[in-house]
Amino acid sequence: MTKLLPSRDYLQIREAAQVLGVSEQTLRNWDRAGKLRAHRHPINGYRLYRATDLHALLREFPYGGEAGQRPVGRQLTLELLTPETNGSSPAQEPHSLPPSHWSAEVALDPKHRPQRWDSPSSTVRRDWRKYPQEAHVLDRSGGAYRRFSPEEIAILQGFPAEVVRIDGLTNRQLIASIGDAVPPPLARAVFGAIDEVWDWNSRTAIEICAGIGGLAEGAAAIGLEHEALIDISPVCKALLTNNRTWRAGVVHTADVKGFDYSEFRSSVGLLSGGPPCQPWSQSGHGRGQADERDLLGHLDEIVRQVEPEVFVFENVPGLATAANAPYLRHVVARLSAPSPTLRYGVMVGLLNAADFGVPQVRRRIFILGFRDRPAAFAGHCFARIERAATHRDPALPRAGRRRWVTIGEALEGRPDPGGWRRWIAAAA
Ligand SMILES: C[S@@+](CC[C@H](N)C(=O)[O-])C[C@H]1O[C@@H](n2cnc3c(N)ncnc32)[C@H](O)[C@@H]1O
Repeated sequence: MTKLLPSRDYLQIREAAQVLGVSEQTLRNWDRAGKLRAHRHPINGYRLYRATDLHALLREFPYGGEAGQRPVGRQLTLELLTPETNGSSPAQEPHSLPPSHWSAEVALDPKHRPQRWDSPSSTVRRDWRKYPQEAHVLDRSGGAYRRFSPEEIAILQGFPAEVVRIDGLTNRQLIASIGDAVPPPLARAVFGAIDEVWDWNSRTAIEICAGIGGLAEGAAAIGLEHEALIDISPVCKALLTNNRTWRAGVVHTADVKGFDYSEFRSSVGLLSGGPPCQPWSQSGHGRGQADERDLLGHLDEIVRQVEPEVFVFENVPGLATAANAPYLRHVVARLSAPSPTLRYGVMVGLLNAADFGVPQVRRRIFILGFRDRPAAFAGHCFARIERAATHRDPALPRAGRRRWVTIGEALEGRPDPGGWRRWIAAAA
């Protein structure tokens, strides 16, 4: 039987690990992740754990407790005596608020932490509509958490909050559509660099799989006029036409595979789009080209029909993993020569939205193609995009760049939507 001795307020890491039934390394990880904060010895700096914090954690996850509750670590039989009670009176009653939405196992999974105010967000995903942990934020002390509102998620994606001020759509619909988008600041950097290197014959554009128009915002920012924005989803059409500035009649709810592009053939400057990324996403089922949503394999056919001067396609980095790389190479080869007479110089590059002032670490691959140019031309364009980066990973020294924007900075001054619930570990 292990005891938290009534005469001691703090335990050394070895003792805390024994009490919780986890390794010392796990405790160090939890400390760094903010899951269970250690205090520091004032003289030697060693980690110390407050007995009340351990007590609170164990109360949240009683070993051998009710059905469905899982132990934090190895099973131990514990008799806990808090410093306050000095062993003479019963331990405190558990608080009445539910500790969190999730099972202990899920809540303690470091891969899916709620967001923190002093960091950029992790990648916003359409699955945030189901409110996983990442779609929540911890308060500054780490003692409570709440959901992000759709407006806040729009801001984390680099959009103005107004983009989701619309009647008739549910929060789940809004969050799914925002989660899919390219953050407009990243799109503006990409198209800003293209505009520097490319001399347009026609300053017009077609956007396929337009979503809510994050990528299209970038093309519009360099003055390209959209002839068509096509997406299969009526929800996207509602958002695309909500207080936006596209010409009337250019937004189409249609399948890009069956769309008639003949009126645009060889007369459009840009073809761009973000085909669905779920087939390749590491958080999806990863069925790749076997997934019926995969449109990547159809892109060369659309390029062949439109014959644009330039194309820009965006997708998830999962497409460039070792397992998927052969398919990506195959897609690039077909985009380089979509017909016997058409040739494009194509290059694939990885960009992080956080480097362009978006309060979110969002890595995405971009496929750039320039008609009748060598692939090196696209490489030259990527170098320009890279030079346009304004922000940096705080762990990396990059002269002239500011640190990544944090959630706290991005949401500063906004009203608190409320809904706070108590988080799992007591605040330090
Ligand atoms: C990753 S999102 C695109 C996000 C967009 N680039 C943005 O910045 O907002 C993919 C989009 O493709 C659309 N889509 C999926 N299959 C489609 C199809 N066959 N035809 C047209 N749109 C399709 C989805 O509705 C979704 O909005």
